[in-house]
Amino acid sequence: MKISEWIEPELHRQFVAEQTDALRLCTAPEGWAERFGVDVLISYKTEAALEQLKTELCLWALNIDFKFRRVFARFLPKHNADREAPRLILGDPGTNLQSTALERTLRYAIDFGAGYSVGLFMDQRENRRFVRDLAPRSLLNCFSYTCSFSVAAATVGATTVSIDLSKKSLARGKENFALNSLATNDHRFLADDVLDVLPRLARKGEKFEVIILDPPTFSRSHRGKAFQVEQDFETLLLAALEVAERNAKILLSTNCSTLQERALEVMGRYCLKATRRAGTFHREPPLPDFPPRVGASTLWMTLR
Ligand SMILES: C[S@@+](CC[C@H](N)C(=O)[O-])C[C@H]1O[C@@H](n2cnc3c(N)ncnc32)[C@H](O)[C@@H]1O
Repeated sequence: MKISEWIEPELHRQFVAEQTDALRLCTAPEGWAERFGVDVLISYKTEAALEQLKTELCLWALNIDFKFRRVFARFLPKHNADREAPRLILGDPGTNLQSTALERTLRYAIDFGAGYSVGLFMDQRENRRFVRDLAPRSLLNCFSYTCSFSVAAATVGATTVSIDLSKKSLARGKENFALNSLATNDHRFLADDVLDVLPRLARKGEKFEVIILDPPTFSRSHRGKAFQVEQDFETLLLAALEVAERNAKILLSTNCSTLQERALEVMGRYCLKATRRAGTFHREPPLPDFPPRVGASTLWMTLR
C-alpha cells in the first residue's frame, strides 16, 4: 500500500515553535491523523486505513521529537446518525479522557469522551487568527460549539455573544475562557436557536463588528425546527446582516460539500443586493497542514 504524506518535520517544528499543538499530521484517501496536544486522533473509513495510519504514525513519531501519550481512533460513518466517540487504541486506558491543546498560545479543552467531535475544529485556525488580528470590539459567534472564536476575540478585548443549542457545548466554552484566564462577565452565552436569537438581538438594536456563521449541514432545534444549510444559509445571513455594524466582517463557513466558496460568494452577493448593502469577499491563506479543498469552505464578507 502507498505510504501517505505526513507533514514535514520542519513544518511540525514551526507549529510547535509558535505554540500550536493542534494540527493535521496526515491526510490519506481513507482517513487522516490529527495531533491534539500530547494525543493523536486517527479518523478512518476502513480498518485497513486505520492499520496503515497507525503504523505510519509510529514510524513518523520515531523520526521527530514527538512522543505521543495516547492514540484514539474514530470511524467516519456515511451517515451522521452513526457517529460515535473515539476509542483508545494505544496508551494507558486509566488516564483522563480530558486534556488540552494549544493554538498560537491559546489553550482549548479537548475531551475524547464527549462525543464524535473532541472540542476544537483545527481547520478554522486561520480564521481565528484573523479575528485576533482584527481585534474587534464585539463578536457574535453563531453555532459557537465550544466558543473557540469567542475566546480568540476575548483575548484581544472583544465582548462576545456565543449562541448554541447545546448547553453542554456552552459550558465547555466557559471552560475555554477559564483556561485562558478570561473572566466571563463581559460575555454572553445563549443556549438557544440562532434563527430565534438573531431577530431578538435586531429588535434590541444590537450590532456587532464581527459575526461568525458556521452552521452544521443539518440540525433540529429543541422545538423540532429543522435547519438545512443548503436551504437556510441565505435566511441566516439575511438575519445576521440586521445585526451587523456598518463595516462588519462576517465569516461564511460550511462543511457541506455542495456549498464551495464560489457558492458562498454567490449567496453573499445576493444577500447584499437584497439588503441594499455593499461588500467585498476574501479568504484567509490555506492551511499548511491541510491539502487543498480539504476542511470547511470559508469566506469572509466585509461590509462597506
Ligand atoms: C459545526 S459546529 C460549529 C463549530 C464552531 N463554529 C467552531 O469553530 O468551533 C455546529 C454547532 O451548531 C450547534 N447548532 C446546531 N443547530 C443550531 C441552531 N439552530 N442554533 C444554535 N446552535 C445550533 C450545534 O450544537 C454545534 O455545536
